Formats: sequence, structure tokens, C-alpha cells
Amino acid sequence: MPYIAYETRYDSMPYVRCGRSGLKLPPISLGWWYNFGGVDVFENSRAIARYAFDRGIIHFDLANNYGPPPGSAEETLGKLMKQDFAPYRDELIISTKAGYDMWPGPYGNWGSRKFLLASLDQSLKRMGLEYVDIFYHHRPDPETPLEESMGALASAVRQGKALYVGLSNYNPEQTRQAAKILRDLGTPCVIHQPRYNMFDRWIEDELLDVLEAEGIGCIVFSPLAQGQLTGRYLDGIPSGARATRTERVWLTPKDVEANLPKVRKLNEIAKKRGQSLAQMAIAWVLRKPQVTSALIGASNVQQLADNLAALNNLDFSEEELQAIEAILSGA
Ligand SMILES: NC(=O)c1ccc[n+]([C@@H]2O[C@H](COP(=O)([O-])OP(=O)(O)OC[C@H]3O[C@@H](n4cnc5c(N)ncnc54)[C@H](OP(=O)(O)O)[C@@H]3O)[C@@H](O)[C@H]2O)c1
Repeated sequence: MPYIAYETRYDSMPYVRCGRSGLKLPPISLGWWYNFGGVDVFENSRAIARYAFDRGIIHFDLANNYGPPPGSAEETLGKLMKQDFAPYRDELIISTKAGYDMWPGPYGNWGSRKFLLASLDQSLKRMGLEYVDIFYHHRPDPETPLEESMGALASAVRQGKALYVGLSNYNPEQTRQAAKILRDLGTPCVIHQPRYNMFDRWIEDELLDVLEAEGIGCIVFSPLAQGQLTGRYLDGIPSGARATRTERVWLTPKDVEANLPKVRKLNEIAKKRGQSLAQMAIAWVLRKPQVTSALIGASNVQQLADNLAALNNLDFSEEELQAIEAILSGA
């Protein structure tokens, strides 16, 4: 049976303008870092992607290295574009990135013009796309001149291989400088992708103000702290959960155990709000007016459904916010 997207997919999603650009994103976007690689079950990845699109989550976020193996999440997208989403290409916002280790030698990493443009070509081939909607520099390169990295992003737009460009993991000063270079090149930076969740609040210090002043939107990754800010670990560490996966070690059982006392208290507040902890954690990042979208991951459709329902209650009372602050500061 060919896939036909739900006709109702745009009925209730409140799209948000990304900074001062023409780009509009759903307040919840779907990340392909985990769960879409060559090691994952294709039909599960497909079910998650279809579920998302059917409900208005039109933004899929990828990177050259997502998998494992690296590149395989883009291959999964390529397969799904062919089999399911080809008629919907103009409705989708697909992003990819380059900046982390991809192939051997001096040009398989970081931010040279040679790496960024070669990587984008490879990404387009894997995804079977003529262009991506957003092309990001995945992280700043301390050695390559910023003008060179930004010039490569601008070239990608001029070559018709990307519609918009973005930055990820850039600090406030780097962001200011990069935004100026991109503006001068006529290809403004429209979006920044930093990590933000209750356990990692670095963007509150200065970055959000810079983004607002520059008119740049903000899509925050790992709003659930990779699953810690959900019910996933409340009764121990289940087999197959991210903290048990050894091919990448961005979340360890030790991290999970250290944060668990706070997570349990946060869960009590979520219950009082009539929400799951995951829903509260998503609503919490979206409370900042500069945040355009919460970029979540999900390893199955049920998780995605749970997360999407965050949109039913995004408001916090002053008391709730203070109670959350008290837990996070360890009071
Ligand atoms: N720019 C960058 O440098 C960068 C870095 C990291 C991520 N990202 C982007 O951000 C996206 C999201 O990152 P993330 O996956 O770390 O986000 P996250 O939303 O914080 O964590 C997602 C994980 O939490 C668990 N989970 C999600 N919803 C759940 C629920 N309702 N109940 C129980 N468990 C739940 C699942 O893990 P289990 O496997 O345990 O089920 C899921 O894979 C990535 O896919 C990528 O697109 C970008």
C-alpha cells in the first residue's frame, strides 16, 4: 500500500516563525541522530517518520555522521523519500550538517571549504535529494578562518544545494561574528542549534539574547537530556535504552543515576500538572520566546506520541517554575 499522508496533518500544529526569516517550523521537530541508522529496524524508523509527518512534524533533522554507521541515517531518509515522502518533498524541511569526523585525512572533519562542500554533496547523494532546506556547520573550527567556513555555507546556497544556512554549537561571540559574515555574503544565518534542557542551561547566559538581536531562530537539541527527563529511567535502566548502548557513549548509566533524585522530584511536578515528565521537559524549553522548536528523538511511535502531547499544555505558573528551579539548584 503506498503511503498517503493524513489530510488532517496541518489542522492543529502551531508553526513558529524561525527568527526573522520566512522559515516556519513545528514547535516539536524530529531528530535522526539515533533510531534511523543502518543498525536500526527500518520499519520502526519508517513508522516514526510517518507518524511525525501525519501530525504536522514536517521537520526532520539529520547530519552527515548520523547512524551508525555514519551516513546511514541519511540513507534511511533517501529510502523513505523514494518509498513514502517523494510527493511531499515541498512540504518537508530537511536539514543536514557537517563538522564532525566523517572520513580519514585532513579534509574529513571540521570546517574547511573543501570538507563542508564535499560533505554536502555526499549527503545529497545519500538522501537522493537535489537540495537540503537547511545546511549547518555542526561545530566551530578553531583553526579554519570563520570567513572560509561561512563562505562555504554561502556557496552551498548559491549552488542551489541548500535553501538556508545555520550554525550549531557556536558560542555567543562566534555566533555574532558568523552572523555578520553571513549577512554580508547575502545568505543570512536563520537558525542556531544548541543543546538545551533542564540539566544544561548554557544558552540562557548570553546566546539567546544574541539570537534575538540577530533575528536568528533557535532549535534546541536533546530537550529530554537524551531520555533522562522522561519516565525512561524511573524504575531502573531498561535494556536497549540509550544509556545501555555502547556504540556511542554520550549517555552513561552513571549520568542517569547521578541525576535520578532530581528526575524523581521533577516527575512529581509533572504529575501535578497532569503531564508526563517528557511533556513537561519539552514545554519547559519552549517557554523561552527565542526557542523556535524542541528537537526531540524517539525510539518508537509511543514515545513520539507522548512527546507531541506536550503541546496540550505549554503554560507554567510562577509557582511551578520556582519549584522546578529549586529542584534543579539542589535546594
Ligand atoms: N547539533 C548537535 O550537535 C546535536 C547533538 C545531539 C543531538 N542533535 C539533534 O537533536 C536530536 C535529538 O537529540 P536527542 O535524541 O538526544 O533528544 P532527546 O529528545 O533529549 O532524547 C531522545 C531519547 O529519549 C528517549 N525518549 C524520548 N521520548 C521519550 C518518552 N516519551 N518516554 C521515554 N523515553 C523517551 C529515547 O531514548 P531511548 O533510546 O532510551 O528510548 C529517545 O531516543 C537528534 O536526533 C539530533 O537531530 C544535535
